[in-house]
Amino acid sequence: MQESPTNELVENIKSRALDELHLTSSQSDLIKWKTTYLGRKSELTQVLRSLGAVSPDSRKQIGASANSAKSELETCFATQEQILKNAQISEELESEDSIDVTLPGYQIEPGRLHPTTQTTREICKIFSSMGFQTLEGPEVEWDKYNFEMLNIPKHHPARDMWNTFWIDQEKDSEEHPILLRTHTSPMQARIMEDNDPPIRMVVPGKCYRYEATDATHEWQLTQIEGLAVDDGISFTDLKGTLYEFAQRIFGEERKVRFRCDYFPFVEPGVDMSIDCFSCNGAGCRICSDTGWIEIMGAGMVHPNVLESVGYDPNRYTGFAFGMGVERIAMLKNGINDVRLFYSNDLRFLRQF
Ligand code: PHE
Repeated sequence: MQESPTNELVENIKSRALDELHLTSSQSDLIKWKTTYLGRKSELTQVLRSLGAVSPDSRKQIGASANSAKSELETCFATQEQILKNAQISEELESEDSIDVTLPGYQIEPGRLHPTTQTTREICKIFSSMGFQTLEGPEVEWDKYNFEMLNIPKHHPARDMWNTFWIDQEKDSEEHPILLRTHTSPMQARIMEDNDPPIRMVVPGKCYRYEATDATHEWQLTQIEGLAVDDGISFTDLKGTLYEFAQRIFGEERKVRFRCDYFPFVEPGVDMSIDCFSCNGAGCRICSDTGWIEIMGAGMVHPNVLESVGYDPNRYTGFAFGMGVERIAMLKNGINDVRLFYSNDLRFLRQF
């Protein structure tokens, strides 16, 4: 420090200080700069302290210029501090993990149930109001329940009605083959095996068939099985229950038609159709010009099935039915390709 400060010295300090201030690029640069140029040991503070050694004339003048230099440096410091702060903020905003709280939020779409689930629930609800309990069963099933106890012994040609996915097994367990159930009917046997009549139940669930897919076939499908067994259940109970169901799900004006059909586990067996809701029976594309649309298989539980679960077929009778849920959903909603149900296309799913 010079003995006697001069105006030039003050100017010199100020211009060095300002040059360096503009070079600062971080908070720590700024702190260092502040200590150097405005701190207790800074040159400017020394100048102010050593004014006593200056002649009274110059003292006033140098004192004034040193004080104004000091306050100018303080102002410039505050400005630079703000500039650096702003730069830091915008850098953070541009970096990937920053959050711009001023952006509008993402709209969270409420979830919804898959159309198959919606239709399954609708169907089960209708049967529930008629006293049918809803149950579920295994999708990986023994041959015994899927076929044998349903009056479909090994090598019976009726097995060809269901193209089956078999599960690989160890050689020594091959006499109890395992498969992916081809229908929900095995639950008929399981329920009767574990319970005494009266029985009224519906079983929704996935089934699997080894077949080529097209607009009306999928290798995975959802079925709903129905079973009622009790003293004195007759075919009129079957007709009345299924007629009621058809009207509730497709509208009160619907008519139904029962025709003979073959399923090994029912006798007599029928398929049930509704009159076409699109053309009211006149014939159109939806009903293939027949005026009728098949919606399920049904029939009176075969005495052999009752026997296989240990029921006395002379005392108990019952009816069973099975329908494809996707087929019902397709008819109700005008869907023309079953493959849409499992292709996960949101344009399709958002419509339900
Ligand atoms: N399980 C039969 C099928 O998948 C449908 C059915 C169920 C038929 C119950 C009659 C009685 O084709």
